[in-house]
Amino acid sequence: MKLFKSIQSYNDYRIEIADKNIGFVPTMGALHQGHISLVEQSIKNNQVTVVSIYINPTQFDKANDLNNYPKTLDKDLELLKTSGVDAVFLPSYQEIYPDDYAFGVKEKQLSHKFCGAHRDGHFDGVLTVVMKLLNIIKPTNAYFGEKDYQQLTLIKQMVAAFFLDINIVGCAIIREKDGLAMSSRNIRLTTQQRKKALLLYQTISSELSLEQMHKKLSSYGFKVDYIEVMNDRLLVAAYLGKIRLIDNIPLNQKIEQAA
Ligand code: PAJ
Repeated sequence: MKLFKSIQSYNDYRIEIADKNIGFVPTMGALHQGHISLVEQSIKNNQVTVVSIYINPTQFDKANDLNNYPKTLDKDLELLKTSGVDAVFLPSYQEIYPDDYAFGVKEKQLSHKFCGAHRDGHFDGVLTVVMKLLNIIKPTNAYFGEKDYQQLTLIKQMVAAFFLDINIVGCAIIREKDGLAMSSRNIRLTTQQRKKALLLYQTISSELSLEQMHKKLSSYGFKVDYIEVMNDRLLVAAYLGKIRLIDNIPLNQKIEQAA
Protein backbone atom coordinates (compact mmCIF):
# COMPACT_ATOMS: atom_id res chain seq x y z
CA MET A 1 0.00 0.00 0.00
CA LYS A 2 1.40 3.37 -1.03
CA LEU A 3 1.31 6.43 1.24
CA PHE A 4 1.24 9.97 -0.13
CA LYS A 5 1.57 13.07 2.02
CA SER A 6 1.97 15.60 -0.79
CA ILE A 7 -0.12 16.38 -3.85
CA GLN A 8 3.05 16.33 -5.96
CA SER A 9 3.90 12.73 -5.04
CA TYR A 10 0.29 11.65 -5.59
CA ASN A 11 0.32 13.35 -9.02
CA ASP A 12 3.27 11.21 -10.10
CA TYR A 13 1.34 8.08 -9.07
CA ARG A 14 -1.84 9.40 -10.73
CA ILE A 15 0.03 9.49 -14.06
CA GLU A 16 1.00 5.82 -13.60
CA ILE A 17 -2.65 4.80 -13.04
CA ALA A 18 -4.10 7.14 -15.68
CA ASP A 19 -5.68 4.33 -17.72
CA LYS A 20 -7.37 2.70 -14.68
CA ASN A 21 -10.76 3.10 -13.01
CA ILE A 22 -10.12 4.84 -9.71
CA GLY A 23 -12.36 4.51 -6.64
CA PHE A 24 -11.94 7.07 -3.86
CA VAL A 25 -13.07 6.96 -0.22
CA PRO A 26 -12.52 10.22 1.72
CA THR A 27 -12.41 9.81 5.53
CA MET A 28 -11.30 11.56 8.69
CA GLY A 29 -9.76 8.36 10.13
CA ALA A 30 -10.70 6.48 13.32
CA LEU A 31 -11.88 3.87 10.86
CA HIS A 32 -14.56 1.29 11.59
CA GLN A 33 -16.61 -1.21 9.61
CA GLY A 34 -18.77 1.62 8.20
CA HIS A 35 -15.72 3.10 6.44
CA ILE A 36 -14.50 -0.35 5.43
CA SER A 37 -17.82 -1.14 3.73
CA LEU A 38 -17.20 1.88 1.45
CA VAL A 39 -13.65 0.66 0.81
CA GLU A 40 -14.93 -2.82 -0.05
CA GLN A 41 -17.42 -1.43 -2.57
CA SER A 42 -14.68 0.64 -4.15
CA ILE A 43 -12.31 -2.33 -4.39
CA LYS A 44 -15.05 -4.45 -5.95
CA ASN A 45 -15.87 -1.89 -8.65
CA ASN A 46 -12.54 -0.22 -9.47
CA GLN A 47 -9.04 -1.24 -10.52
CA VAL A 48 -7.42 1.11 -8.00
CA THR A 49 -8.76 2.27 -4.61
CA VAL A 50 -7.47 5.42 -2.93
CA VAL A 51 -8.47 6.40 0.64
CA SER A 52 -7.77 9.79 2.21
CA ILE A 53 -7.41 10.36 5.93
CA TYR A 54 -7.64 14.04 6.80
CA ILE A 55 -9.30 15.62 9.84
CA ASN A 56 -10.64 18.70 8.10
CA PRO A 57 -10.57 21.63 10.56
CA THR A 58 -12.86 23.88 8.48
CA GLN A 59 -15.88 21.62 9.04
CA PHE A 60 -15.68 21.73 12.84
CA ASP A 61 -17.64 24.55 14.42
CA LYS A 62 -16.26 23.88 17.92
CA ALA A 63 -12.51 23.82 18.65
CA ASN A 64 -13.25 21.33 21.41
CA ASP A 65 -14.85 18.86 19.00
CA LEU A 66 -11.87 19.15 16.62
CA ASN A 67 -9.32 18.62 19.43
CA ASN A 68 -11.20 15.61 20.79
CA TYR A 69 -11.74 13.95 17.40
CA PRO A 70 -10.37 10.39 17.77
CA LYS A 71 -7.04 9.62 16.08
CA THR A 72 -5.96 6.02 15.44
CA LEU A 73 -3.64 6.37 12.44
CA ASP A 74 -1.50 3.22 12.88
CA LYS A 75 -4.57 1.06 13.35
CA ASP A 76 -6.29 2.75 10.38
CA LEU A 77 -3.36 2.07 8.05
CA GLU A 78 -3.21 -1.57 9.16
CA LEU A 79 -6.94 -1.96 8.50
CA LEU A 80 -6.69 -0.36 5.04
CA LYS A 81 -3.72 -2.53 4.14
CA THR A 82 -5.51 -5.76 5.09
CA SER A 83 -8.59 -4.56 3.20
CA GLY A 84 -6.52 -4.34 -0.01
CA VAL A 85 -6.40 -0.55 -0.51
CA ASP A 86 -3.83 0.56 -3.10
CA ALA A 87 -2.99 4.04 -1.85
CA VAL A 88 -3.63 6.36 1.10
CA PHE A 89 -3.51 10.15 0.87
CA LEU A 90 -2.51 11.79 4.17
CA PRO A 91 -2.24 15.52 3.54
CA SER A 92 -1.36 18.32 5.97
CA TYR A 93 -3.37 21.55 6.45
CA GLN A 94 -0.73 23.41 4.43
CA GLU A 95 -1.14 20.99 1.54
CA ILE A 96 -4.94 21.29 1.45
CA TYR A 97 -5.31 24.96 2.42
CA PRO A 98 -2.30 26.83 0.95
CA ASP A 99 -4.69 29.84 0.78
CA ASP A 100 -5.59 29.41 4.50
CA TYR A 101 -9.27 28.88 3.48
CA ALA A 102 -9.55 32.22 1.65
CA PHE A 103 -11.55 30.37 -1.01
CA GLY A 104 -14.39 27.99 -0.30
CA VAL A 105 -17.50 26.33 -1.67
CA LYS A 106 -20.76 27.80 -0.39
CA GLU A 107 -24.22 26.30 -0.68
CA LYS A 108 -27.12 28.58 0.18
CA GLN A 109 -30.10 26.30 0.76
CA LEU A 110 -29.94 22.75 2.11
CA SER A 111 -26.64 23.39 3.95
CA HIS A 112 -28.46 25.76 6.34
CA LYS A 113 -31.09 23.21 7.34
CA PHE A 114 -30.97 20.21 9.69
CA CYS A 115 -27.32 19.67 10.72
CA GLY A 116 -26.37 22.98 9.07
CA ALA A 117 -28.78 24.92 11.28
CA HIS A 118 -26.93 23.66 14.34
CA ARG A 119 -23.34 23.65 13.07
CA ASP A 120 -22.39 27.03 11.62
CA GLY A 121 -20.26 26.73 8.47
CA HIS A 122 -20.05 22.95 8.78
CA PHE A 123 -21.19 22.07 5.26
CA ASP A 124 -19.15 24.87 3.64
CA GLY A 125 -16.11 23.20 5.22
CA VAL A 126 -17.22 19.73 4.07
CA LEU A 127 -17.99 20.82 0.50
CA THR A 128 -14.75 22.79 0.21
CA VAL A 129 -12.55 19.90 1.34
CA VAL A 130 -14.44 17.35 -0.77
CA MET A 131 -14.12 19.59 -3.84
CA LYS A 132 -10.37 19.90 -3.20
CA LEU A 133 -9.93 16.15 -2.59
CA LEU A 134 -11.92 15.22 -5.73
CA ASN A 135 -9.77 17.63 -7.77
CA ILE A 136 -6.55 16.18 -6.31
CA ILE A 137 -7.40 12.46 -6.49
CA LYS A 138 -9.32 12.67 -9.80
CA PRO A 139 -11.33 9.48 -9.22
CA THR A 140 -13.84 7.77 -11.50
CA ASN A 141 -16.12 6.90 -8.56
CA ALA A 142 -16.23 8.41 -5.06
CA TYR A 143 -17.94 6.64 -2.14
CA PHE A 144 -19.92 8.31 0.65
CA GLY A 145 -22.12 6.81 3.39
CA GLU A 146 -25.86 7.31 3.74
CA LYS A 147 -25.08 7.62 7.47
CA ASP A 148 -24.37 11.30 6.69
CA TYR A 149 -27.38 11.62 4.45
CA GLN A 150 -27.44 15.41 4.22
CA GLN A 151 -23.70 15.43 3.44
CA LEU A 152 -24.19 12.81 0.69
CA THR A 153 -27.07 14.82 -0.82
CA LEU A 154 -25.06 18.06 -0.81
CA ILE A 155 -22.02 16.39 -2.38
CA LYS A 156 -24.17 14.95 -5.18
CA GLN A 157 -25.67 18.42 -5.74
CA MET A 158 -22.22 20.08 -5.73
CA VAL A 159 -20.79 17.61 -8.25
CA ALA A 160 -23.77 18.30 -10.54
CA ALA A 161 -23.59 22.10 -10.02
CA PHE A 162 -19.89 22.24 -10.96
CA PHE A 163 -20.15 19.66 -13.80
CA LEU A 164 -17.55 17.37 -12.23
CA ASP A 165 -17.09 14.18 -14.22
CA ILE A 166 -17.18 11.93 -11.14
CA ASN A 167 -19.76 9.35 -10.12
CA ILE A 168 -20.87 9.76 -6.49
CA VAL A 169 -21.90 6.42 -4.97
CA GLY A 170 -24.08 6.38 -1.82
CA CYS A 171 -23.50 3.39 0.50
CA ALA A 172 -25.89 1.87 3.09
CA ILE A 173 -25.50 2.56 6.82
CA ILE A 174 -23.52 -0.08 8.72
CA ARG A 175 -24.83 -0.67 12.26
CA GLU A 176 -23.67 -2.36 15.45
CA LYS A 177 -25.60 -5.53 16.39
CA ASP A 178 -28.00 -3.51 18.57
CA GLY A 179 -28.79 -1.07 15.72
CA LEU A 180 -26.54 1.86 16.68
CA ALA A 181 -25.10 3.39 13.48
CA MET A 182 -21.31 2.97 13.53
CA SER A 183 -19.47 6.26 14.02
CA SER A 184 -15.94 7.33 14.90
CA ARG A 185 -17.46 9.32 17.77
CA ASN A 186 -19.02 6.23 19.39
CA ILE A 187 -15.73 5.34 21.10
CA ARG A 188 -16.08 8.52 23.15
CA LEU A 189 -19.39 7.35 24.68
CA THR A 190 -19.21 6.17 28.32
CA THR A 191 -20.44 2.60 29.01
CA GLN A 192 -23.66 4.07 30.35
CA GLN A 193 -24.17 6.31 27.29
CA ARG A 194 -23.31 3.46 24.91
CA LYS A 195 -26.12 1.37 26.45
CA LYS A 196 -28.56 4.24 25.91
CA ALA A 197 -27.35 5.07 22.39
CA LEU A 198 -29.24 2.18 20.76
CA LEU A 199 -32.50 3.88 21.77
CA LEU A 200 -31.91 6.46 19.04
CA TYR A 201 -32.35 3.96 16.19
CA GLN A 202 -35.07 2.09 18.09
CA THR A 203 -37.06 5.29 18.50
CA ILE A 204 -36.79 6.51 14.90
CA SER A 205 -37.75 3.01 13.68
CA SER A 206 -40.93 3.08 15.79
CA GLU A 207 -44.41 4.11 14.67
CA LEU A 208 -44.50 7.19 16.91
CA SER A 209 -45.15 10.69 15.51
CA LEU A 210 -42.17 13.07 15.23
CA GLU A 211 -43.36 14.93 18.31
CA GLN A 212 -43.72 11.71 20.30
CA MET A 213 -40.25 10.57 19.19
CA HIS A 214 -38.81 13.90 20.33
CA LYS A 215 -40.47 13.50 23.75
CA LYS A 216 -39.40 9.88 24.08
CA LEU A 217 -35.75 10.67 23.28
CA SER A 218 -35.75 13.58 25.74
CA SER A 219 -37.18 11.30 28.42
CA TYR A 220 -34.29 8.85 27.79
CA GLY A 221 -31.82 11.71 28.38
CA PHE A 222 -31.02 12.69 24.78
CA LYS A 223 -30.82 16.40 23.93
CA VAL A 224 -32.49 16.44 20.52
CA ASP A 225 -31.05 18.88 17.93
CA TYR A 226 -33.68 18.02 15.32
CA ILE A 227 -35.90 15.21 14.16
CA GLU A 228 -37.32 15.94 10.70
CA VAL A 229 -38.23 14.47 7.34
CA MET A 230 -36.08 15.26 4.30
CA ASN A 231 -37.20 13.77 0.97
CA ASP A 232 -38.01 10.15 1.82
CA ARG A 233 -35.90 9.95 5.00
CA LEU A 234 -36.39 10.61 8.66
CA LEU A 235 -33.26 12.39 9.94
CA VAL A 236 -32.26 12.79 13.57
CA ALA A 237 -29.42 14.41 15.51
CA ALA A 238 -29.22 14.23 19.30
CA TYR A 239 -26.64 14.62 22.04
CA LEU A 240 -25.85 12.09 24.72
CA GLY A 241 -23.77 14.17 27.12
CA LYS A 242 -21.23 15.91 24.87
CA ILE A 243 -21.41 13.36 22.06
CA ARG A 244 -23.57 14.25 19.07
CA LEU A 245 -25.12 11.25 17.34
CA ILE A 246 -26.85 11.34 13.95
CA ASP A 247 -28.93 8.71 12.22
CA ASN A 248 -31.58 8.36 9.53
CA ILE A 249 -34.00 5.81 8.17
CA PRO A 250 -35.84 5.57 4.84
CA LEU A 251 -39.56 6.13 5.41
CA ASN A 252 -40.49 3.16 3.19
CA GLN A 253 -38.41 0.91 5.48
CA LYS A 254 -40.58 2.03 8.40
CA ILE A 255 -43.69 1.09 6.45
CA GLU A 256 -42.20 -2.34 5.60
CA GLN A 257 -41.26 -2.89 9.28
CA ALA A 258 -44.81 -2.03 10.36
CA ALA A 259 -46.40 -4.38 7.78
P1 PAJ B 1 -15.99 10.41 8.21
O1 PAJ B 1 -16.91 10.75 9.31
O2 PAJ B 1 -14.66 9.80 8.55
O3 PAJ B 1 -16.75 9.45 7.23
C1 PAJ B 1 -16.16 9.03 6.01
C2 PAJ B 1 -17.23 8.34 5.19
O4 PAJ B 1 -17.68 7.17 5.87
C3 PAJ B 1 -18.48 9.25 4.99
O5 PAJ B 1 -18.92 9.14 3.64
C4 PAJ B 1 -19.49 8.65 5.96
O6 PAJ B 1 -20.84 8.85 5.58
C5 PAJ B 1 -19.10 7.17 5.91
N1 PAJ B 1 -19.59 6.45 7.11
C6 PAJ B 1 -19.32 6.75 8.40
N2 PAJ B 1 -19.98 5.90 9.23
C7 PAJ B 1 -20.69 5.06 8.43
C8 PAJ B 1 -21.58 3.97 8.67
N3 PAJ B 1 -21.89 3.58 9.90
N4 PAJ B 1 -22.11 3.33 7.61
C9 PAJ B 1 -21.82 3.74 6.33
N5 PAJ B 1 -20.98 4.76 6.04
C10 PAJ B 1 -20.42 5.42 7.07
O7 PAJ B 1 -17.76 12.18 6.58
C11 PAJ B 1 -16.59 12.53 6.75
O8 PAJ B 1 -15.64 11.73 7.34
C12 PAJ B 1 -16.08 13.89 6.30
O9 PAJ B 1 -17.11 14.83 6.35
C13 PAJ B 1 -15.45 13.87 4.88
C14 PAJ B 1 -16.48 13.47 3.80
C15 PAJ B 1 -14.25 12.90 4.82
C16 PAJ B 1 -14.94 15.29 4.53
O10 PAJ B 1 -14.02 15.73 5.47
